[in-house]
Amino acid sequence: MHSIGIDIGGTKIAGALVSDDGEILAELREPTPAGDPAAITELVVRMVEQLRDGQQVIAAGVAAAGFIDAAQSTVYYAPNINWRHEPFRDRLRERLDLDVTIDNDANAAGWAEFRFGAARDAHDMTMLTIGTGVGGAIVAGDRLLRGGFGTAGELGHLRVVPDGLPCGCGARGCIEQYGSGRALLRMANEIADAGGIGLQLAAERERAGGLTGDILARLLVDHDAGALHALRQLGTWLGQACASLSAVLDPELFVFGGGVSIAGDLLLDPVRESYLAHLPARGYHPEPRFVVAELVNDAGVVGAADLARIHATASGA
Ligand code: BGC
Ligand code: NA
Ligand code: ZN
Repeated sequence: MHSIGIDIGGTKIAGALVSDDGEILAELREPTPAGDPAAITELVVRMVEQLRDGQQVIAAGVAAAGFIDAAQSTVYYAPNINWRHEPFRDRLRERLDLDVTIDNDANAAGWAEFRFGAARDAHDMTMLTIGTGVGGAIVAGDRLLRGGFGTAGELGHLRVVPDGLPCGCGARGCIEQYGSGRALLRMANEIADAGGIGLQLAAERERAGGLTGDILARLLVDHDAGALHALRQLGTWLGQACASLSAVLDPELFVFGGGVSIAGDLLLDPVRESYLAHLPARGYHPEPRFVVAELVNDAGVVGAADLARIHATASGA
């Protein structure tokens, strides 16, 4: 039976009606209402109703960028959104006569890649989503790892720098501060400030009144030395984190998703290099594959829908 997936991002909310083989049958996109959880709830209700209209739907899954509890009902904490102990599932269930589950956004994206995308042939994969934050998903032995309290796979908060930059999670030195899209912009600004290879970055910044992801993407296509250097720094941090993750999880492959992953090998090459340089037992440990996500923009909705369907089926809805 079909299910519905909703993916709440920082700028937009995506929704889709998804078949049980991961095919998108209908899609919606709306700008995310600023700040207010109640306005987000309202919009999600409307989107689910619209996607469900006239269809047989077993469940809806909602992916959100935060720490979700083991019951898949409450957002404990969202580092980059104003949600603290938000009982999101019950608010939605009150309004929709439908089985609803909440999932972490990166878990949903990772699950979609595992089921239908870049990791469909793997049993053990680790996904990192590189956007505003750094998200993570772990599939171990064909299962999504949820942990004791539901928040396993918060890989963006792996510490890579003792007492490093402060993070939205309250800790310091998390990979999110060195390996996210935001970190990439910070690094690009530093390179622009330093002159030399940063001259083009500085000129573009001056012209546009600030660097953006789109400007960086364009400079990367032109192989601008400053933009490439920023991406190389980002990849080097991410590669180190992956080396530590291999010590814990030993995945067959690492999948990179999120906006920055469109850089493809320009991102993966420095990741792989730095990974090999930092790998425990390097030279003796088999090399995992490093790939970019295949479902990119659709991963969140497809994964959320599939996880909700599995949950509803298991609970006999
Ligand atoms: C949050 C995660 C989320 C990631 C990507 C992180 O800051 O802690 O829950 O998956 O950002 O959105
Ligand atoms: Na996660
Ligand atoms: Zn953190």
